[in-house]
Amino acid sequence: MNNQFEPEYVQDLFNKMSGSYERMNYITSFGFSLLWRKQFLKPLKPSGERLAVLDLMTGMGETWHPVKKHFPNSEFTALDFSEGMLGHARRKNENQFQNQVIITNQNALKSNFEDGHFDVVLSAFGLKTFNGEQLEQLAKEVKRILKPGGVFSFIEVSSPKNGLLRTLYKTHLKYVVPFCGRIMLGNPEEYRMLWKYTVLYQNSEQTRRIFEAAGLEVNYESYFGGCASGISGRKS
Ligand SMILES: C[S@@+](CC[C@H](N)C(=O)[O-])C[C@H]1O[C@@H](n2cnc3c(N)ncnc32)[C@H](O)[C@@H]1O
Repeated sequence: MNNQFEPEYVQDLFNKMSGSYERMNYITSFGFSLLWRKQFLKPLKPSGERLAVLDLMTGMGETWHPVKKHFPNSEFTALDFSEGMLGHARRKNENQFQNQVIITNQNALKSNFEDGHFDVVLSAFGLKTFNGEQLEQLAKEVKRILKPGGVFSFIEVSSPKNGLLRTLYKTHLKYVVPFCGRIMLGNPEEYRMLWKYTVLYQNSEQTRRIFEAAGLEVNYESYFGGCASGISGRKS
């Protein structure tokens, strides 16, 4: 397997970025990432019921506020495998969520959740560090842990189809983000890797095909001219 997709490599990358990720993410996306984390929930019907909701690749809990607004009474579980990111998530849980979020350190591709446990599975910006084979494992895992009738939504930074937008976005991700990374981290390499993953990921077309092939009902979602894309759908 290409080294950059190995779990240990990805874990190490996010452990190193965990000191600056949230601020960097906000500054370098001009706040778009906040907007997209709200938008990717829109395909899912809001509910005040006690649904079992899972946020995969939760990072520091960047999606938690919009998710809690959408599913206010949910039993909310957050999963990641970077202890660096989860350290921040735990503090957020204590300071802002009365420790109500169930945080678990696991690999999303082989979690220990029971079959059919979740009503909703979500993930923001956690797809790009998977290769095709890993996306197949993810799709099978999402299908396994969703209840029949359960729903999902995923979003990822993508390469827009429009040439001008693509050039601007490429310049931004390839040069501006690592530059900010150097100023804030003293080392732009980790943030340059995010660009490399985005180039390889392209958009959520392959993810859509893979989730469909796994037997899930899938819709394709595009955000801001394709600067982000995703899939939503349900297990029948
Ligand atoms: C770009 S961050 C996204 C964080 C957050 N969801 C957000 O909206 O900003 C990707 C996260 O996915 C996690 N991750 C990547 N592969 C994973 C895997 N196989 N299992 C669990 N977490 C994983 C990383 O540790 C990292 O925290």
